[in-house]
Amino acid sequence: MDTGLYDAIHRRRDVRREFTGEPVDPAALRRVLDAAHAAPSVGMTQPWDFLLVRDAELRQRFQAHVAAEREVFDAGLDAERAAVFSRISVEGVLGSSLGVVVTYDAGRGAPAVLGRHAIADTGLYSTCLAIQNLWLAATAEGWGVGWVSFYREPFLRDLLGIPEDVRPVAWLCVGPVAQLQEVPDLERHGWRSRRPLADAVHADRWGAPAADV
Ligand SMILES: Cc1cc2nc3c(=O)[nH]c(=O)nc-3n(C[C@H](O)[C@H](O)[C@H](O)COP(=O)(O)O)c2cc1C
Repeated sequence: MDTGLYDAIHRRRDVRREFTGEPVDPAALRRVLDAAHAAPSVGMTQPWDFLLVRDAELRQRFQAHVAAEREVFDAGLDAERAAVFSRISVEGVLGSSLGVVVTYDAGRGAPAVLGRHAIADTGLYSTCLAIQNLWLAATAEGWGVGWVSFYREPFLRDLLGIPEDVRPVAWLCVGPVAQLQEVPDLERHGWRSRRPLADAVHADRWGAPAADV
């Protein structure tokens, strides 16, 4: 059993406030990106790309867009949820060392993508697996990652010159951290908690409890 892997899985956190902002070690960044690029992908399409965003002005413009989208979400909340949400940070765009924007190109390896003919989303799933590999590898390096999805795809596409047929899937805030919280931010702030594993595992038929967990 690889206890190091389990350790990284359980230490991994979504980070917003704990970034130190120090520059990342280039060799470590290469290892992290290499781990992301080692992900499985439908039909071996490897539909991801990684855009490293260090430019201060681009990051400021993105951060302002995220702040506006935060307001959009906030406007739809009732008073109780809005009070909880006001305590939660949703991004670490300027505090992190760099942004890594992960994109999805559905055209790569198309049209005969082995394994995607019945489920178009498998391409997107593949990109998310690359993101998870990146996230775990960054954790193993002692870094944090924060996934930001408070943005409109056309805005991010325009900002970074991403082609029309390529989807930005995530802006990841990446870099060294002062610490990783033990409890997810949303749980600490009373937004929502992790549900018990037993509720997520079913035996043979949907809703039937599994004796093993
Ligand atoms: C697809 C996806 C989008 C997310 N978008 C955001 C986001 O925009 N802002 C944010 O603060 N956290 C975001 N998160 C992080 C989740 O809130 C976080 O993973 C969850 O609360 C569990 O915490 P943990 O990752 O620390 O275990 C996102 C996570 C995923 C998987």
